[in-house]
Formats: sequence, structure tokens, C-alpha cells
Amino acid sequence: MEMSSVFLYLLLLLSALVSYVWFGSHRRWKSSSRKGAKLPPGSMGWPYIGETHQFYSQNPDDFFASKQKRYGEIFKTHLLGCPCVMLASPEAAKFVLVNQAHLFKPTYPKSKEQMIGPSALFFHQGDYHMRLRKLVQGSLTPEAIKSLVPDIETLALSLLHSWDGVPQVNTFHEMKKYSFDVGILAIFGQLSPWYKEELKKNYCIVDKGYNSFPTKIPGTLYHNALLARKRLSKILSKIVRERRETSSTQKDLLGSLMNSRDEKGQLLSDDQIADNIIGVLFAAQDTTASVMTWIVKYLHDDQKLLEAVKVEQSAIHEANDGGKRPLTWVQTRNMPLTHKVIQESLRMSSIISFTFREAAADVEYKGYLIPKGWKVMPLFRNIHHNSEFFPDPHKFDPSRFEVSPKPNTFIPFGNGVHACPGNELAKLESLILIHHLVTKFRWEVVGSENGIQYGPFPVPKGGLPAKFWKHRPAETAST
Ligand code: HEM
Repeated sequence: MEMSSVFLYLLLLLSALVSYVWFGSHRRWKSSSRKGAKLPPGSMGWPYIGETHQFYSQNPDDFFASKQKRYGEIFKTHLLGCPCVMLASPEAAKFVLVNQAHLFKPTYPKSKEQMIGPSALFFHQGDYHMRLRKLVQGSLTPEAIKSLVPDIETLALSLLHSWDGVPQVNTFHEMKKYSFDVGILAIFGQLSPWYKEELKKNYCIVDKGYNSFPTKIPGTLYHNALLARKRLSKILSKIVRERRETSSTQKDLLGSLMNSRDEKGQLLSDDQIADNIIGVLFAAQDTTASVMTWIVKYLHDDQKLLEAVKVEQSAIHEANDGGKRPLTWVQTRNMPLTHKVIQESLRMSSIISFTFREAAADVEYKGYLIPKGWKVMPLFRNIHHNSEFFPDPHKFDPSRFEVSPKPNTFIPFGNGVHACPGNELAKLESLILIHHLVTKFRWEVVGSENGIQYGPFPVPKGGLPAKFWKHRPAETAST
């Protein structure tokens, strides 16, 4: 009896909350639509929960694809307590990310912002964002990352050798180690092994808690991650202090952040520096690791293509005295087929399926109203998988990139003021890894389970368990 009255009470409370949220927000949409423009087509699902259940009970990409089929390039829905407008055309994505970017602000859940650090550039707009962006972008241009080729090559070789003969490795986890180490290299240049280990240890704890339920209850993944995040700040402050004491003039990303002064001559604070370093590490790791895992899978699944990539890479290997001399920057710029494999992997896997913004004002697009406060989501994957721009879109075919894609149809790194400043580094580390993988190793995927897991980026199921072994020349004769 007591239990049922508690239940009834909770039910009443919930329905009161639902009617408040539902009718309150509906009133706002109605007042907005009085201006003449109408809301985009689509369905808002149940009060408050909206269509969150449909979204989570199927592959999110199928959810978006079926909506686009039904409603067209712009449609509304309601997810995770937020009314949203989804945009599935290149023009609409450009409108939000480039042409009218000032009307659409970046938006992330508070718990994520707190974990990465509120001063990280991707949470900002305007002058502060531009200042930080110049610094980050400046240290990741082709000119700036050229000098990293030998060190990235050492990292790639050491990773690959660590797999040799191991019965089964989780390809995604391994790629995460590599992309993390490359990130550290780009940020700090040479860093002592002790600092590297401390950063790795604590970052791993942050990584584990990042997508868990946000709570401050001690012992939970999220709370542990918050504590590790605090330790990361301390370690980073210590590195900064040491560099200041030794008047270091290192020209890596940390050096740029430490030397930057605003128009009033103010330096960035230690917290601002730490937030941006964690932000870059965060942006660099899982993204690049997911794409590289997909590349390994796509090459494995298409042996003819793999042979063609091997031919391209073996020529470079031979030119380097059978691998006795290191890869050069110029060689990495001259791998046309491998480069197309990377582009096609970026398109097919579209690991960042969409991004989020929030309308900072009522905005009209093609006669539709996007009300202030609504989330706006340009759907990269829908654009990449649209047969109008990429015929036979579900076929892995690098040759499609022999012709440049139509403007704004290929945007794996986003577009506009927040577009990815790390895209050249991501491509460079992938090219270097592929070079050594195909010229020195062979691999087999373990198990035959196809499928995708989201964590949150899509990766092959189980992280692509695989066995890699060093290729011995005798094998060539038998194959
Ligand atoms: C294949 C790997 C990668 C992919 C697919 C990727 C994709 C993206 C996308 C789509 C955005 C824009 C998000 C938005 O507009 O909301 C972005 C932003 C960003 N990426 Fe990447 N990224 C990759 C690798 C990297 C790497 C290696 C770094 C750094 C070393 C990096 C650093 C950043 C940063 C700092 C931003 C925020 C830029 C800003 O807000 O101005 N990314 N990335």
C-alpha cells in the first residue's frame, strides 16, 4: 500500500514536470512561429522524452536516414530533452557552420565541458575562440608538423612491432595508444618519459569516465575521472612551470600557448592552457584511432585494393633502401592511392556523424523557423552517404576521389570557424602507419563478426580483434 502511494506520488510529480516542460516549451515554439515562418516538418515524439527511445533503440544512422527519407533535408525532432532541427544537405550545413556561424553557438553538456575544461576552444565563439584557434591551428599546419615525421615513424614502428605474433589485439585500443602518443608529440615535442606516463595514466581514467553517468558519488567512473582531471591540471602546471624556469623556447603547441599575449599583453592562465591541451588530446585520440581502425578493416576486406596499396608503398620502401632510410615528408605527400583510401575511409565511416550547435536567436532557413535555444545538428554522415553526391554510397571505392567532391559535400573534418585544425596531422599519422603496416606486416581479422559499436564514435565491433605478424620475404614466394 505504502509502495503504491509512493509510486502514485512519483507519477503525479512526473506528469506535472512533463506538462510544465512540454506546454512551456510548446508555448515558446508557438510564439516563435507567429513571425510567419513555420517549424520544419518532423515529429517531436512523446512529451519530454521526445524520440530519444527511437534514437537509442536503433542504429542512430538509420534513425537519421529514415527521417531524411520521410521529411527531406531539414526536419525537427526531440532528443534527450532538447528540441532539435536536423540538417541533411550540404547547403544547410554550410549555412549553420560557415555563412551564419555567429548565430549558432557550440553547445555541449555541462558534464562534458567540466571534464575537458571550460576554457577549451571548442566551447567558445568570438575573440577568445579566434585567439586560441590561431594558436592551435598554427602548430598543426603542414609546415609545423613536417618535422614530426621521424618521431611519428618511430611511434608507428614500435606499435606495429609490439603486435608481432600476439594471438589477438584489439585494433582500436592499440590505435588509441598511437594517436595519444602522436598527440603528446604535437603538443609537447619531446617530453620526459615520467611526465608522459603520468599524463597517460590519468588521461586513461578521464577517458573511461567521460561517457559515464555524471555524478559526484565517490568511486564512480565519473567521479574518478573528475579527480584524474584535477591531477592532469597539476601535472600540466608543473610542466609549464619547469619550462618557464628554464626559459624554454620550444615551438610546439604548448610553447605557442605559453607565449601568447592578448591585446592587453595578458598571458593565458595555467587553467586556460591545461583546458586547451586536454581539449586537443581529447579531439585527437578517439577520432583518429577510429578512422585508422576502419582503414585496417577496409583494406583487409578488399584484398585487391590492399595489393594496389602495397605496390604504391613498396615503391617508396624500395626507394628508401628497403626501409633502411626513414620516410620523408615529401614521400608522405606523394602517396595518391593511400591518400584516397584515407578519404574514402573518412567518408564511409563518417565517424563524426553529426555535430551540435544551438540557435542563439530565431533564425529562418528556406522558409523554416529554427527557434532560439533549439539544438541544430548538421548531419555529416547523411551528406556523405547521399547517392546524389557519392554514387553507390555504401560501396568502399577510393577511386571516387579521383574527381574532387562537389563543394561542401565532403566534410569529415567539419566546416567553417570550428573545422578541425588537426586534419593534416590525422592524415599524416595514418599515412605513416599504413606505409609500415602494408610493407612489413600481414594481418587477419579474428572472428567473423561484422557490425559496428558506438563508443561514442562508430568502430568495428569489438574494436576489430585481429592478429598481425611480421611479413618474412619467403612468404612472398608462396603468395
Ligand atoms: C580523423 C581524425 C579526426 C576527425 C575525423 C576530426 C573531426 C573533427 C570535426 C568534424 C571537428 C569540428 C566539430 C564541430 O564543428 O563541431 C573537429 C574539431 C576539432 N578537432 Fe578534429 N578530427 C580529427 C582529428 C583531430 C586531431 C588529430 C586533432 C589535434 C591534434 C584535432 C583537433 C581538433 C580541435 C582542437 C577541434 C576544435 C576546433 C574549434 O572548435 O575551433 N582533431 N574535428
